[in-house]
Amino acid sequence: MSLQTVLTRRLGLAHPIIQAPLAGGGDTPELVAAVVEAGALGFIGAAYLTPAQIVEAARAVGARTKRPFGINLFAPLPAPEAPPDLRPALERVAPFYTELGLAPPEVPASPRGAFDEQFAAALASGASAFSFTFGMLPAGAREAVKARRMFLIGTATTVDEALALEKAGVDAIVTQGSEAGGHRGTFGGDFDAAMVGTMALVPQVVDAVGVPVIASGGIMDGRGIAAALALGASAVQMGTAFLTCNEAGVPDAYKDAILGAREHDTRMTRAFSGRPARGIINRFMVEVERAGVADTILPFPLQNALTRPIRNAAARQGRAEFLSLWAGQALRLARRQPAADLVARLAAEAEAAVARLAK
Ligand SMILES: Cc1cc2nc3c(=O)[nH]c(=O)nc-3n(C[C@H](O)[C@H](O)[C@H](O)COP(=O)(O)O)c2cc1C
Repeated sequence: MSLQTVLTRRLGLAHPIIQAPLAGGGDTPELVAAVVEAGALGFIGAAYLTPAQIVEAARAVGARTKRPFGINLFAPLPAPEAPPDLRPALERVAPFYTELGLAPPEVPASPRGAFDEQFAAALASGASAFSFTFGMLPAGAREAVKARRMFLIGTATTVDEALALEKAGVDAIVTQGSEAGGHRGTFGGDFDAAMVGTMALVPQVVDAVGVPVIASGGIMDGRGIAAALALGASAVQMGTAFLTCNEAGVPDAYKDAILGAREHDTRMTRAFSGRPARGIINRFMVEVERAGVADTILPFPLQNALTRPIRNAAARQGRAEFLSLWAGQALRLARRQPAADLVARLAAEAEAAVARLAK
């Protein structure tokens, strides 16, 4: 008997499992389609895609499956305040450009504010769910999602953020615990203060809001899913577990780093993007954050633009020491396998864990 919740019934899912949006190339159409065909919900992380790429990614998923899928964007942020002199930031990363055989770094272009065009493409993508992180989706955009009858999901890292999202009318809330891989969704206060673990965060959010809660952060197997449901969550959202699937679009060097890493091998860093994110510790992180030079890191998304050529070249050259190896803390539970096998295994493990506890 598969585990059913208010969310699985509402979204027509066989399992209370969501594949996290994995902006940066992890969530290929092959991955998303395999996940939804296996009875879970898959997301396209569209934050770094152009409108044309969003249309193409959604078409590619739709060509592989008729089942519902989701799409995700970062909420629009105020323009970053760049320091008047960008030279120290450029000089800081220049040696990595040289080592990878790249021409010297250039001043990163100010973000174009492409949200409106991305959002229009996401609305027209055929996705049945829209999720967002990094902030609050503007009221007009929330209304547009609802008018399309798409299921609206926001991301919270504290109870206050969850309350703000509920008040704004979201249909469900992803609670992102501090174990989570990738960028923090924090928008209501201090990043450090909002580092609350999944085990502590989920029941406090469940008690505070009336909408379904989706637990996220450090969940990698059926035991974690059963635990999240016991805490009152209606589903889980998993990122790192899907990154080592055969269909995931990250370089093999990244998958190998996850498969070889241990629970204490990650930390929070601003080195790659300027916004706190959890990834496997590597040379780039350590050298950019060395005492005395860390203040040369530009604010998000300027640092992200500045380091993109490094990450792209490192991916081509298979050099994990220069990649942003976003990953959560439950690393030893990672497996290389087809996504359909992962979803089936997660569902069976979760059901077995619940049955074991019921005995
Ligand atoms: C490589 C990577 C990319 C991610 N990209 C996004 C994204 O685009 N949008 C989003 O809402 N969350 C994103 N996340 C965060 C996930 O939604 C989720 O919070 C996290 O993966 C949960 O922790 P876990 O990795 O331990 O499962 C990303 C996570 C990873 C590891």
